[in-house]
Amino acid sequence: MKVLYHNTKEDTRFLWSQKGLCKAGERRILETGKREKRGIDMKIQSVTMAYFSPCGTTKQAVCSIGAAWHGRKQMQWDMTPVTETKTRIHLQEQDLLIVGVPSFGGRVPMTAWERLKQLTGHQTPAVAVVTYGNRAFDDTLVELQDMLQSQGFMVAAGIAVVAEHSIMHQFATGRPNEEDCAQLCAFGTLILERLEQIGVQPVTLPGNHPYVERHGGGLVPLVEQRCTGCGACAEHCPTGAISVEQPMQTDSIRCISCMGCIAVCPEQARYLPEQAVKMLSEKLGAICSVRKENQLFLPEQSS
Ligand SMILES: Cc1cc2nc3c(=O)[nH]c(=O)nc-3n(C[C@H](O)[C@H](O)[C@H](O)COP(=O)(O)O)c2cc1C
Ligand code: SF4
Ligand code: SF4
Repeated sequence: MKVLYHNTKEDTRFLWSQKGLCKAGERRILETGKREKRGIDMKIQSVTMAYFSPCGTTKQAVCSIGAAWHGRKQMQWDMTPVTETKTRIHLQEQDLLIVGVPSFGGRVPMTAWERLKQLTGHQTPAVAVVTYGNRAFDDTLVELQDMLQSQGFMVAAGIAVVAEHSIMHQFATGRPNEEDCAQLCAFGTLILERLEQIGVQPVTLPGNHPYVERHGGGLVPLVEQRCTGCGACAEHCPTGAISVEQPMQTDSIRCISCMGCIAVCPEQARYLPEQAVKMLSEKLGAICSVRKENQLFLPEQSS
């Protein structure tokens, strides 16, 4: 297997063989550990993994990357449920933040944006992670970077991860798979090495200003009669759009079309109208069918 990642320079491409990879949960033993201890990474005492992940792929990606810091103090913050609006997290210079959001229409989902305001840093190094369903991530990475910077973080690396499309599941089905997760862990190791070599340097990430315009979701899941009223969907919904007392009722104004309720329903009682998914698939089929690779963006290394 060949793994491709590329730097911010369009023309700088590296190929890595499987030897360079580590499985999720393992950490490659770094030669740098034997060298003189220098650079910021040696000061990193804890790693916070934060994610907005209605359907679970962003969580998987962030945790696979975080596995490279195995052995350090680790903390996870799932910012998805509506109950997380009151959480406040403040990180220091010696902490590292790995934060992931899915791309919705090429942008950071508004709800994730709101939750991210609850995270503050103090010149804290951060890794910005975006998952996308094999179409494009457009301006999501750069928007996430801008957001993090305004909250006191220094984005030292960016990663774009290909993940199963949560509306059109026929695209990037099953991704991130085992190979992807191993590659993401290897990306984490490369970031760690770069931090040790050059300290925290800002990275240039792909994307435009102004960002691509937001387009409303409008796809509100329907509920079948076999719903048992267990409430798992209401508990998981990021916006509180599903009635806790009557989960068959969904507030279409609050719904952000994240598909999280479909993903967690144990009865497979929630679904999208077939015709709507078919139309979207026909519109985006050509671009979504071309396989995309995960990408790692690091600061340029001065010679
Ligand atoms: C409302 C919505 C908009 C999306 N927009 C895009 C997009 O612009 N480009 C893309 O490639 N994937 C898009 N996707 C797919 C998601 O980015 C992808 O499935 C992601 O892995 C979902 O993350 P999660 O599993 O953590 O919820 C969209 C999904 C939803 C629900
Ligand atoms: S009701 Fe809408 S916002 Fe809530 S989980 Fe379902 S798709 Fe997401
Ligand atoms: S998770 Fe499924 S079964 Fe449970 S309340 Fe929601 S729709 Fe009904």
